[in-house]
Amino acid sequence: MRKLDDLEVKGRRVLVRADLNVPLDGATITDDGRIRASVPTITALVEAGAKVIVCAHLGRPKGQPKPEFSLRPVARRLGELLGQEVAFAGDVAGPSAQSTVASLQDGQVALLENLRYEPGEESKDDATRRAFAEKLAALAELYVSDGFGAVHRKHASVYDVPALLPHAAGGLVVAEVEVLRKLTEDTERPYVVVLGGAKVSDKLGVIANLLTKVDRLLVGGGMAYTFLAAQGHEVGNSLLQADQLDQVRGFLDEAAKRGVDLVLPVDVLAATGFAEDAPYDVVGATEIPADREGLDIGPATRELFAAKLADARTVFWNGPMGVFEFEAFSGGTRAVAEALIASDAFTVVGGGDSAAAVRKLGLAEDGFSHISTGGGASLEYLEGKTLPGLAALED
Ligand code: 3PG
Ligand code: MG
Repeated sequence: MRKLDDLEVKGRRVLVRADLNVPLDGATITDDGRIRASVPTITALVEAGAKVIVCAHLGRPKGQPKPEFSLRPVARRLGELLGQEVAFAGDVAGPSAQSTVASLQDGQVALLENLRYEPGEESKDDATRRAFAEKLAALAELYVSDGFGAVHRKHASVYDVPALLPHAAGGLVVAEVEVLRKLTEDTERPYVVVLGGAKVSDKLGVIANLLTKVDRLLVGGGMAYTFLAAQGHEVGNSLLQADQLDQVRGFLDEAAKRGVDLVLPVDVLAATGFAEDAPYDVVGATEIPADREGLDIGPATRELFAAKLADARTVFWNGPMGVFEFEAFSGGTRAVAEALIASDAFTVVGGGDSAAAVRKLGLAEDGFSHISTGGGASLEYLEGKTLPGLAALED
C-alpha cells in the first residue's frame, strides 16, 4: 500500500475519496466527526500544492439526485475546518464538476456532489461501474483513498478508480488499518469485545469470527434480546429477531465449547413504550414483562460489564447499549464508554453510532486509544473479510 508521501502531488489534480457520510438534521450536521477526520489528509495535500478534488457519498439516494442528500452543507463545514473555501460542484462528474476542477489553483479544494447520485457508483455490473469510474478518474491525475468508512464497499470511487490512476492510501486509512491489525494479530489479553446496536443479523459474521479470538464477549443493546430469547426467556416487546434464534443458539454453544465468557445483560430498563419519556422499571433480564420493552441495560449490568472490562488489555466496542438518543436510556452506553476510558487497555471504538454516541454524551475522545470512522468497515475487517477498497490499493 503506497502512502501519500510516495506521490508527487505538487501542481497535480488529486482525487481524494473521503467518507463524509455524517448525520444530518435537515441541512444541519449533527456530528461532524467524519469531516474532521478527513481534514489532515486534505491539509497535507493542500500544503504540498496539489489541486484537491474531494469525492464522497451521503446517505443512500440510490442513484438519483435527491436534494436532501446533497453534500453542499458538508462543503461549507469542510471549508470552516480547513480554514479555506471549498468550491462545490453541483454534479458528480458532469459539466459542473469539470469546470470546478478546471478553475482550481494549486492548494485549492473542491468537493463533488454526492457520488451516489450516479447509478454507476454502486452498480453491481462491473462494466457500468467501470464506465462511471472512468468519468471520475478523468477529472484527476492521482487518487488518494482516505474514506475508511467506505472501504468495505465495492463501489466505483472506492474500488475501480484506483485501478485507473496512480494511487496511495491517505493518513486516515493507514491509521485505521494499523489499529485494526493490532486487534487481529498478537492481541494483548484479556481481549474483550463489547457489541451492541439493534440487529444481531448485522453482526453474525463478526460474532462467529470473534468467538475464535476473544476471551470475553459482552452483548448489550437491542441485539441482546435475541440472545436472551435464545436462552428461552420472555423478552416482551423488546427488539427480537426471531429468524436469528437458531444462529444465536449456535453462538451460545460455540462460546461454551471454546471457553469464551459470553456475557449477557442481567437487568434492563423495561419501558412501557419506545419514547423519550416512557415510564420504566429496572427488571431482571429474565423477567421482562410481556407488555414492556427493554431500552437500556440496567445498573447491575453496567457494573458487571465494567468489571469484565477492568482487567482487559485490549477492547473493541461497537454499538450502543441502549437507545442513547433518549437521555433516560443513555446510561448503559455511557457506563460502557466510561469503563473504556477508565481502563488502561488499548481501546478501540468502532463505528458511526458508537463514535457519535461518545461525542453526543460529551465524553472526551482522547480517553480512547482510537475512535474509528468506520462501522461496517471495521466489523468486516475484524470478520476477516477482504475489503475491496483496501485490496484495490495493493499492487
Ligand atoms: C457508513 O456510514 O457506514 C459508511 O459511510 C458507509 O455507508 P453505507 O453503509 O451506506 O455504505
Ligand atoms: Mg452504516
